[in-house]
Amino acid sequence: MVENSDTWTEVDAYLERALDLADETLTRTAADAARAGLPDISITATQGKLLQLLTESVGAQSVLEIGTLGGYSTIWLGRGIPEDGKLITLEIDPNHAAVARRNLARAGLGSKCEVRVGPALELLPALEHQPPAPYDLVFIDADKPSIPAYFRWALRLTRPGSLIVVDNVIRRGAVVDGTSTDPAVQGVRQFLELLAAEPRVSATVLQTVGRKGHDGLAVALVVTGQ
Ligand code: SAH
Ligand code: DHB
Ligand code: MG
Repeated sequence: MVENSDTWTEVDAYLERALDLADETLTRTAADAARAGLPDISITATQGKLLQLLTESVGAQSVLEIGTLGGYSTIWLGRGIPEDGKLITLEIDPNHAAVARRNLARAGLGSKCEVRVGPALELLPALEHQPPAPYDLVFIDADKPSIPAYFRWALRLTRPGSLIVVDNVIRRGAVVDGTSTDPAVQGVRQFLELLAAEPRVSATVLQTVGRKGHDGLAVALVVTGQ
């Protein structure tokens, strides 16, 4: 079999069916977001289930997401926390936030998931020293040049045992180019340098292929406190 992006998409579709990953709620969420004109850049179902499993694995009661879009990843994360858990997701675009709120309500997650609207870097300071901080899991998936700043905030807002997950850290392989002038690539590379030098976390990066092309996820476990 020839390995190319058609194969990756086909395998993603096969896995979604074979593992029965995407139910009616998630399918409608994706369709709603597309109808509202949102870009097709959410995580995939296989990645979403991984987020749910990571959330469940750390027994997360509190989750912070940076970058909501239409709420697709938010639903997966929200499903990983218990009924009395709390998820806060930050989104700069009021239209995206409105679509997400609708999708979360339909998913039955409206009460435990709160969408806050604004530039994440302006919203993050208010989360410190306020319940439900410290967060048990932080998912960083907004503008890529700000990933280093979001990672620093994630460290402030978590505790030993928390997980920090960062999407889109491979950029179709462009991450290897140290001379790249793409601000997204520079953001990712600066983040990876921070990650490597950060004694408070133990981390790895997995490159992924699938319906969304060649990209990757960083996963960091907070191992010691401030
Ligand atoms: N996590 C979503 C995809 C997020 S796409 C999913 O997988 O389903 C990235 C989102 O980040 C977009 O909705 C974009 O509007 C938002 N965003 C971009 N810059 C931002 C900022 N500075 N603060 C908060 N959100 C931002
Ligand atoms: C983009 C953002 C994402 O979160 C993603 O998963 C893919 C692409 C983007 O801004 O292009
Ligand atoms: Mg992403």
